[in-house]
Amino acid sequence: MRIGVIMGGISSEREVSLKTGQEMINHLDHSRYEVVPIVIEQRMDLISQVQQAGIDFALLALHGQYGEDGTVQGALETLGIPYTGSGVLASSLCMNKQLSKMLLKTAGVHTPAGLCWQGMDDYDPQMVERLGYPVIVKPNTGGSSIGIQLVQNEKELLPAVQEACSLDQAILIEPYIKGQELTCSIMDGKVLPIIGIRSADSEWFDYRAKYEADGAEEKVIQLPPVIEQRVHEAALASYRLLQCKVYARVDIILCQDIPYVLEVNTLPGMTANSLLPKSAAAAGITFTQLLDHIISSSLH
Ligand code: DAL
Ligand code: MG
Repeated sequence: MRIGVIMGGISSEREVSLKTGQEMINHLDHSRYEVVPIVIEQRMDLISQVQQAGIDFALLALHGQYGEDGTVQGALETLGIPYTGSGVLASSLCMNKQLSKMLLKTAGVHTPAGLCWQGMDDYDPQMVERLGYPVIVKPNTGGSSIGIQLVQNEKELLPAVQEACSLDQAILIEPYIKGQELTCSIMDGKVLPIIGIRSADSEWFDYRAKYEADGAEEKVIQLPPVIEQRVHEAALASYRLLQCKVYARVDIILCQDIPYVLEVNTLPGMTANSLLPKSAAAAGITFTQLLDHIISSSLH
């Protein structure tokens, strides 16, 4: 089978995507698959590059907009090329934090409450005052923590909102929930070991903490069984409700034993520092086996 590893793209997470793609290429079983790297430089390149490469299957190493958000999935559907992971609807829903959180709330899954502003015209510090500082300001459809800021007071609010608005059409403002950051990866509807995150020099899991080798300590965490069960249920309920397929990573903050779902990542990072491969390794699944599994499961 001729597999195209599609990576790069034009989102703010391009660099992360290139690392994910390289890591996948390094670990794919080359005796089993013919591997074709496909680096996307511009949005309109995708269809022609995929067609020229003559691939049977697309292994998606893209992150963020025009990659993880359903657009590439739709293009591949149209071309009749099978691809890894979730379909068009789940991909676009999970990329939109506001909409996915609305659905999660209706299903009784805890997720931080908050505001969604459609640009600077909605700027209203009084609304944030009512929410209570500190708050987290984030682009609605961002990834890898790019453009996310912890805001302690009204003075810090304006620059944070301006920056987030420069990256996205909509932004979220959520109360900062101080708790244990966790991630629960799911493969084929089953949970993998929960990873706990302790950022080295940040109040939260920011870009440096995510991608520098010494940025954070991330290891399997032993929670009391009742709490572990709650985390599993929240992660699985989110995965199912948002109609994810094959695999995903659910990011959570545990505060006073309540798991708050921050978001669901349909194409989670697979770099050397990423969490899903660590979680799989803890379950005895090598990176190569993980890729085999993602490919075979995506083909069914
Ligand atoms: N958005 C990054 C790649 C992640 O979720 O791992
Ligand atoms: Mg994300």
